[in-house]
Amino acid sequence: MEEEYKVSSELYEETNNITDIKPTASPTNVVSVFKFTNPSSIVDSDGDLVVKRKPSKNDSTEKDSIQIEHSTSTILDLVGLQIWRGAFLLADWLIYNNKDLPKDGVILELGSGVGLTSIIAAMYRNVICTDIDQGGILNLISENVKRNKSLTKHQVSVLKLDFLSENFTEEIEVLLPKVKIILAADVIYDDMITQAFVATLQKLLLKCPECVVYIALEKRYVFTVNDCDTCAPCYEYFLECLEKVPKINSELLPLDFGQYFEYDRVKELVLWKITSK
Ligand SMILES: C[S@@+](CC[C@H](N)C(=O)[O-])C[C@H]1O[C@@H](n2cnc3c(N)ncnc32)[C@H](O)[C@@H]1O
Repeated sequence: MEEEYKVSSELYEETNNITDIKPTASPTNVVSVFKFTNPSSIVDSDGDLVVKRKPSKNDSTEKDSIQIEHSTSTILDLVGLQIWRGAFLLADWLIYNNKDLPKDGVILELGSGVGLTSIIAAMYRNVICTDIDQGGILNLISENVKRNKSLTKHQVSVLKLDFLSENFTEEIEVLLPKVKIILAADVIYDDMITQAFVATLQKLLLKCPECVVYIALEKRYVFTVNDCDTCAPCYEYFLECLEKVPKINSELLPLDFGQYFEYDRVKELVLWKITSK
């Protein structure tokens, strides 16, 4: 029997943070510990925040750490059991902007994967961390939330939200009026999911017109014989879908904010901000 094609996040090539800590969600998982600088603890002699553009492993600054159970490779349907660079980009964005997050606003994350971004978000605000109910992903997120209780000062509700479902569950519906920020990292890799994701955003913005959406993703380039060139078809399809949504503003944000996690902020990473008009 042919083995199903597996993918592995590029992140593991640049960082090896796997420990011998025991996984609790699945025995085939591993537990990685990712260190990050918490800028609230780094000030210079004038009391100003010291923002590092790129931290290094040898840096002697005291660091916080997040413990994440995850897979090291999966079939395409279960990529959420791994960690992707977009999750770190959004985590950096949250740490950098934590003082400017809307007061009392809840943060909703879509396609949260292992829950890394949501756990960082819960250092600052209550979070609704969502994904599809497939491959034990919601249980994995819950286990990761438990592992990092000492980090999160706020509540994390782990709930099912499937872009392909017509309606939100009742549990999500009742929480939506409190949501001020919507996050999604690396959910653009399959055109059917992309189309459903953009439709979900459209529905969410109709229900919460004040919400600001931040989408981090890594453009994935392929070479096509037809064009005799490289292109990023999934990203282009996402832009096409976005253009069709009426009454929204979309803006590409500069990635010039501080980097607190150790990963390559590659040039293919982008961050979109979307609001209602
Ligand atoms: C590449 S992973 C990114 C995970 C995480 N945000 C990160 O950056 O590490 C894509 C995520 O989209 C989720 N996803 C796929 N199809 C979905 C759907 N129909 N509804 C909601 N989420 C979906 C996957 O389960 C997975 O968590």
